[in-house]
Amino acid sequence: MYGVNAFHTLRVQKYLECFHLPLEKLQEISARLKKDFNRGLGKHTHHRAAVKMLPTFVTATPDGTEKGDFLALDLGGTNFRVLHIRVNEDEQRVMKSQNCAIPQEMMVGTGEQLFDHIAACLGEFVNSQDLKGQTLPLGFTFSFPCEQKEIDKSILIRWTKGFNCSGVEGEDVVKLLKEAIHRRGDYDIGSVAMVNDTVGTMMSCGYKDQSCEIGMIIGTGTNACYMEELKNVKRVEGMEVKEGENRRMCINTEWGGFGDDGALKDILTEYDEEVDRTSINPGIHTFEKMISGMYLGEIVRLVLVKLTQEKLLFNGETSKALLTPGTFETRFISEIEKEDKGVENTKKILADLGLTSNAVDLHIVRLICDTISSRSARLCAAALATIVNRIRVNRKLDHLKTTVGVDGAVYRKHPNFSEELQDMVRRLAPQCDINFIVSEDGSGKGAAMVTAVAQRYVCILAYSCAKINIVVQKKI
Ligand code: BGC
Repeated sequence: MYGVNAFHTLRVQKYLECFHLPLEKLQEISARLKKDFNRGLGKHTHHRAAVKMLPTFVTATPDGTEKGDFLALDLGGTNFRVLHIRVNEDEQRVMKSQNCAIPQEMMVGTGEQLFDHIAACLGEFVNSQDLKGQTLPLGFTFSFPCEQKEIDKSILIRWTKGFNCSGVEGEDVVKLLKEAIHRRGDYDIGSVAMVNDTVGTMMSCGYKDQSCEIGMIIGTGTNACYMEELKNVKRVEGMEVKEGENRRMCINTEWGGFGDDGALKDILTEYDEEVDRTSINPGIHTFEKMISGMYLGEIVRLVLVKLTQEKLLFNGETSKALLTPGTFETRFISEIEKEDKGVENTKKILADLGLTSNAVDLHIVRLICDTISSRSARLCAAALATIVNRIRVNRKLDHLKTTVGVDGAVYRKHPNFSEELQDMVRRLAPQCDINFIVSEDGSGKGAAMVTAVAQRYVCILAYSCAKINIVVQKKI
């Protein structure tokens, strides 16, 4: 703070106050989310629930005996990946992987174009790996909210994170993928298991640590899944649980949708409202827009513009770049907040944006980044605390020891995000002892793990009058 005019800083802090969330507020937010979890799981309430609590039909975590070769597709963030994974007693090895870009226009084009592109990339990979003659089982990580009907039937509820392809919402994504592969006709795949990236992350970490029963992503988007008691999953009919049985199912919370019904109105700032208004999907994924990598940079940019217009930054002079949406990338926040190179990085980033800065500006820009990333970490902590507290109460434990598998660039790359999140969860869930594992290639490997576990257990879902009647789990 040296050399910084105190009055000036005070005025800046006044503008940033709206982002501050004290412990009591976070406790309140966690209590609201707890109610939303119940609504999402409820038989009669889930249709209108903002937090969807989607059943995944994943009822078992790895036990270490899974093995085999699998293909995995990972679609959901900025990149699309194809992987060949070998699972055996002591490792899940990525034999080969390939990144395929998804051009911006394809993200908002037709669904057919998107799936043809995915099938083409997979075909190229299968060919290059000499896997063409084999029909390997495929784990498909599709990181969007889907109403999963079975492990290989998954209806897209809505696009998020900048995707908006026509003709996919309301459709079975596995069917669209298979149709695209058949349109090509030059290779085939075996059974398909659909997973959300949170589930993939939990499953891949679960292979190393069998107490891992939560998966969390803080990257382009944000979300978490956890193992819920089957008896509480009222929205899936026919899952009878006998007295004393501890059967569980992984629930994809889709916590990004928290607040879509106005539940977070009191903490939304004018900057959040602007980000939402100018997004591709206004009114959708309110919580995600306050937290994840797709939006954090834009929030910072809007605050920078505001403070410049108020003559608290850059001598009151904006630049064309600063006034252009999307120019302040989320990765800049991590670079600016770095302990050692932060000041140097800030100078360079601001200069690249055509801004002339002095020492006070550098300090203020860092303060803004810190405020926005810290709010994100604290909100995630409140949401994660809701999950761990719920698991503890579900199991009637005084004390819960559990592991969370985590992935996503915001969590991994920001210099102190993970630390702040962890500290805050510990304060919000003092009766829980939580271990965090960062997953490596989690969503890809995890998709293979779900496929492997699904092969270990065959779920036969018998339908009667369009209603799930009975679920039999049979060990192969
Ligand atoms: C999606 C989730 C996904 C999360 C993290 C959100 O936008 O709705 O399904 O898990 O992003 O990738």
